[in-house]
Parts: sequence; C-alpha cells; structure tokens
Amino acid sequence: MKKLIRNNVYWVGKTDWELDSFHGGDYSINHGSSQNSYLVKEEKTVLIDTVWMPHSAEFINNLADEIDLHSIDFIVANHGEVDHSGALPALLEKIPGTPVYCTANAVKSLTGQYHHPEWNFKVVKTGDTLDVGNGKKLLFMEMKMLHWPDSMASYLTGDNILFSNDSFGQHLAVGELFADRADQCFLWEEAVKYYVNILNPFSIFVKKKIEEIRAMNVQIDIIAPSHGAIWRDNPMQIVDKYYQWSQDYREDQISVIYDTMWDGTKTLAHQIGEAIAGISPQTKVKIFNITKDDKNDIMTEVFKSRAIALGSPTVMGDILSSVSGWLQFLGELKFKNKKAAVFGCYGWSGESVKVLREKLTAAGFAVAEPEVRCNWNPTQAEHEKIIAVARALAEK
Ligand code: FEO
Repeated sequence: MKKLIRNNVYWVGKTDWELDSFHGGDYSINHGSSQNSYLVKEEKTVLIDTVWMPHSAEFINNLADEIDLHSIDFIVANHGEVDHSGALPALLEKIPGTPVYCTANAVKSLTGQYHHPEWNFKVVKTGDTLDVGNGKKLLFMEMKMLHWPDSMASYLTGDNILFSNDSFGQHLAVGELFADRADQCFLWEEAVKYYVNILNPFSIFVKKKIEEIRAMNVQIDIIAPSHGAIWRDNPMQIVDKYYQWSQDYREDQISVIYDTMWDGTKTLAHQIGEAIAGISPQTKVKIFNITKDDKNDIMTEVFKSRAIALGSPTVMGDILSSVSGWLQFLGELKFKNKKAAVFGCYGWSGESVKVLREKLTAAGFAVAEPEVRCNWNPTQAEHEKIIAVARALAEK
C-alpha cells in the first residue's frame, strides 16, 4: 500500500517487521527494518529504488494495484546492492526497456548481479538532472563510498526531498514512516548503530560529502533514506549528527571488553572497570563479554568510547578465537584516535596480551604500556597492574 510523503511523492516500499539480520549474519536487527522505495507521480512517473528480492513479487503486485506499471517512465537505482535492486529483474521483465538511471559503477554492480546488460541504463553523475514535469526535476548526486562505489542520492526540486539511499538510514521498522513518529530511543540507537557498522570506515567521505551538500546550498525539507524512518522534522539534524560522527567521534566513555575461559580474565575485566570508575568517576564505564553481547552493539559502544581495555586468556599460545574474530571486525571499522590497554590470564605460556597488543595496534589503537598479564587467577598481586591500566586509560 502506498503512503503519502509529500504532494505527488509516495512511499511504496516494504516494512519488514520480522527481519533479524542483515548482510548475512553480520548485522543484527532488533526492531525490524524497511527497504524504502519511492514513487514520484508528476507529469512523468518515476520509481526510486526497489526492495530485496524475497519481497519482489509482493512489491510489484502492490505497485500494480496503485498504477499501471507501463506508466512508469523512469526508474532510478540509487545503489546496486540487492536490498534495493532485488525487484528490478522481475519488474523489468514486465516493463522492458524502461530507462534505469544510475551511476557508471551501478551499471557494473547491477549487470554483475543480474546479468542483463541489455537493460536500458542511463548513466548519470553529480549535477545531471532529469525533468519530471510540472517544473520539477531530479538532481543526481554521486555518493561514492557511502557506502559502495556505486551509491548516489537524488534530490527532487520543488518538493525539496533528498532520496539519500543508505546514508542517513537506520535498520528500524516504523509503520508511521516518519522519524518524528518513531520511538526516539530506538531511532537514535539504530541510527548510530547503522553509522558505526556500515559507514564508519568511510567517515572521511561522509565529512567531504556533507560539506559538498552544504556548499550546494539547496533547501532540504525531507530526507528519505532507503532504510528506516524518513526525516521531515528538522531533517538536517541527522546530517549534523553524521558530520559529528564522521570526525573521530568519542564521548567520555571507556569500555572493557573480554572473553574468558574459567572466569579469571572476567574477574580482571570487572576489576579494571571498577578501578577506572574509581579514578575517573565522571567517565561512563561499560563492560562487555564478546560471546554474550551483540557484536554490532559492542562496536557501537567502542565508537562512543575514548578508550577500551581488551582481554583474552591465553589458549594454545594465542587468544580465544571469539576475540580474534571480534578483532578482525574491529579493524574493518577503522576507528581512529582511541586508546586501548590489554589484559588476560594464562596458565603456562601467556602469549595473549602480546597478541592483543599487536592486533589492536594494527587496528589503529594507541595501546598503553601498562598491561595485566596474570598467571592463573588474579590475586592482590595484580592490583598495582590493574590500577596502572586504569590510570593509563582514564587520563585524558
Ligand atoms: Fe541498503 Fe547498501 O544497501
């Protein structure tokens, strides 16, 4: 069922209340999500983005209930990833030859995925426009690396709507569509989680793109992303947040993160957390077990932190595989300007703190000299080391 956004612009996407993961299992979804598709019905009819392939038939049936599919003059594919392009093959079977406006890189991604080089691609770049009638046009803006090389946004003049695709989105199902109608706790929690886990590696591009958008001096009344809620009440609030987040964001928070075999390293984690709280009472201190807490949520907490302490016991001359895998993901997210310290228990050889130090350094963290390398279970003897770690992390 279509829903009105403004004047002749409608949402025709899929709200997926049941979705529980994304990008395979790499992104946890806790409150549903949506794939937002938009229909612009001016003198010309334009479909902006589609939905994920499993929802393709439902999407096309709903669209056919609203309009004659043959009345679609243009399709805009802002991004080739399958969650937005998945219905294109079935749709273009019904309306072959309909022009598909996209970037040169999106021709590569769409052709690579669907093997239809005969689709009527119209390659656009930043500044190109498409006349939709009634004095309005779509202005295209490449959004390279936000978050794929093929990404772009489209801006509808007259209605001043920025169809931003993945940027400014959230994985959140909002039946009422608009951010001002969403649960504000969920909205911001999901917006920051989305930024951290999808866009943070590309923060340098985020900052430059926002500066470019601001320099264009166009009035933006609505930001309509391809996931989650649509921003219509002070839409620039999410742009301002992205600008802040894109510049080595951190709060006065320190996170202690660990996995443990027989609770020795867990004990250290809690003692370090308490020591930090004692030394720096104004600092938020949070403790996470890598195997019990959600991976994407922990990364969001790392993003907010100015420092982390990371712990693993030694196992087979190395660290636990859970911590190893977590560190791999940590490196991919390319956090900057954060301190770290390492800790861990061991029975025999005790390599874990060295491995943690090397991997955290490779992930871009400034690893403090003090560490807690504890033989067997912690005793009072570890106290000084714990205080030294806490001091190194707490000092600003
Ligand atoms: Fe929502 Fe990059 O796809």
